[in-house]
Amino acid sequence: MRSIIRILGSARELWPYYAGIVACSLAVAVTGLLTPFIIKAATDYVVAANQGQASGVSTVIWLAAALLLADLANTLLSNIGGYLGDTMAAKLRATLSSRYFAKLLSLPQRYFDGEMTGTVINRLSRSITEITSFLNMFANSFFQMLLTVVAVLAITAFYSWPMALLLAVIYPIFMWLTTITSAKWQVLEAEKNYEFDVAGGRFAEVIAQIRVVKSFVQERRELATFDRHYDQTIRTTQNQSRYWHEMDATRRAALNVIFFVIFAILFVQTVRGAFTIGVMVLLIQLVNMARQPVFSMSFLVDSSQRAIAGSRDYFIVMEELAEAEALPILAAPVPAGRRGPAGIEFDSVSFGYPGSPDVLSEVSFSIRQGEHVAFVGESGGGKTTLVSLLLRLYTPKLGTIRIAGTDITSLPLREIRADIGVVFQDPALFSGTIRENIAYATPHASAGEIIAAAKSANAHEFIARFTNGYEAQIGERGLKLSGGQKQRIAVARAILKDAPILILDEATSSLDSKSERLVQHGLQHLMTDRTTLIIAHRLSTISSVDRIITLKDGRVDEIGTPEQLATTGGIYAELLALQASATKKDRRRLQLFDIRP
Ligand SMILES: Nc1ncnc2c1ncn2[C@@H]1O[C@H](COP(=O)(O)OP(=O)(O)OP(=O)(O)O)[C@@H](O)[C@H]1O
Ligand SMILES: [Mg+2]
Repeated sequence: MRSIIRILGSARELWPYYAGIVACSLAVAVTGLLTPFIIKAATDYVVAANQGQASGVSTVIWLAAALLLADLANTLLSNIGGYLGDTMAAKLRATLSSRYFAKLLSLPQRYFDGEMTGTVINRLSRSITEITSFLNMFANSFFQMLLTVVAVLAITAFYSWPMALLLAVIYPIFMWLTTITSAKWQVLEAEKNYEFDVAGGRFAEVIAQIRVVKSFVQERRELATFDRHYDQTIRTTQNQSRYWHEMDATRRAALNVIFFVIFAILFVQTVRGAFTIGVMVLLIQLVNMARQPVFSMSFLVDSSQRAIAGSRDYFIVMEELAEAEALPILAAPVPAGRRGPAGIEFDSVSFGYPGSPDVLSEVSFSIRQGEHVAFVGESGGGKTTLVSLLLRLYTPKLGTIRIAGTDITSLPLREIRADIGVVFQDPALFSGTIRENIAYATPHASAGEIIAAAKSANAHEFIARFTNGYEAQIGERGLKLSGGQKQRIAVARAILKDAPILILDEATSSLDSKSERLVQHGLQHLMTDRTTLIIAHRLSTISSVDRIITLKDGRVDEIGTPEQLATTGGIYAELLALQASATKKDRRRLQLFDIRP
């Protein structure tokens, strides 16, 4: 319950809605309470008329009209309350969703390494739907229930305190029984949500990578796994529901017995003349009015359980530690290239992914500003990890990384990232147009700038061939483009960012050697004055850099110019020799480095 209050508190600006809904629901309760009194008055009049003590129908018609008015007011007010409730729920939903997304955007990379995208999304929608729909229902019915109960008890007590007492004990008994039920119920609900989240996560993953699923003909297995999770939720729901309904039956039976006693008292007292027929009719109505809240209470408890479980999930994410200075990350990005070219230093950097052995050990090197450096090492040797560390997607365990002489842990994340234009190994584009993708980091770039960047990346030609050119939709994650086309768009995106440090992590690996040469040529001009880190597969691409750094077993093996390293007998020399050789064994060794002719 505390988490629900926390949620309400966190959306304090919605207080006019909370207040409006509460006011409406109280007014609904008041108009509802008028009805039994009007009917009592009508009954008394009818009885008097039957006994010849009154005549004429205008009184009962007026009473019927009063009933109509009370009902109309009740209808109107409850609908206004409903409207306010819906608006409040929609606003709350928007606020909670936006905060959740903002939170996720601020979480460090390692959080996402361990979560399936679909799970994250599923959890968001479920938690928030359950929280908002509960609050909507709660706001609209709780206070109304409370007022009705208090009024009914007070009025009943006025006529018969034993009856009021009996009615009064119903609520604590019912609450108590419900509370016992809720503990177990929540455990089962959490189990069920886990299954939903896992199934949903896989679902999103499968749809996103449907090509792989289809080509390996794994539709059946994916469906079976999905079904298994859902089947599990059926069993859990059955247990949960059986338990709930057993408890509910118990609760209601207890209630029925109490009502039996109340009605028995009521009838007997009326027969004995303690109550008039009018009072009996009034009390019957009041007792029935008291019955309703007891039942809706169990409904409210049911949805509050969901909401509590949902808000717990919500707060688990909200309490994750954000990346250092998360808030500035959500502020506007720093424009790229404010600083001149910057040197890079790695000083005894060691790093391993959480729960895995170290990938890099005491890696040290320094790259002068404007220098072009290639990294060579086996696949899985930690080249991409170096890039991630430089971008501070992860923080080294030991050692220091400096950009332009400043320790990056003392630089705001957005400044580090503003300084670096990167083409990732996996080009990762967004749905939308080609133009939007190239201008992802620079949404205000002019058409001329975008075309210039595309030309440097050797992408202009193929883009121009699309019917819509730069406005062509590329489909989710660039599904409608070839691998090489995607890479060239990603290169253009990095070029347009115009940052002083350029990182090309296998930026041209999907291109044929001719296209690669063209991109390289386009980049050559761009790389002047820019500190450039290249991770590439073709020795020809690497041979033109200023220096090569080779990695072996997570450590720096050699650093030198291509000419120097060609003669030292190290990895680079070995690769050159292997490339010249044609034996099977040598080819296989070459494959380990993914080196191509
Ligand atoms: N997010 C991650 N979580 C855990 N381990 C990871 C993660 N990313 C990479 N690794 C591990 O770190 C090691 C280095 O990976 P990295 O991507 O840096 O290699 P690489 O040199 O870029 O290889 P390649 O040439 O194949 O791209 C690998 O053994 C890999 O399994
Ligand atoms: Mg890599």
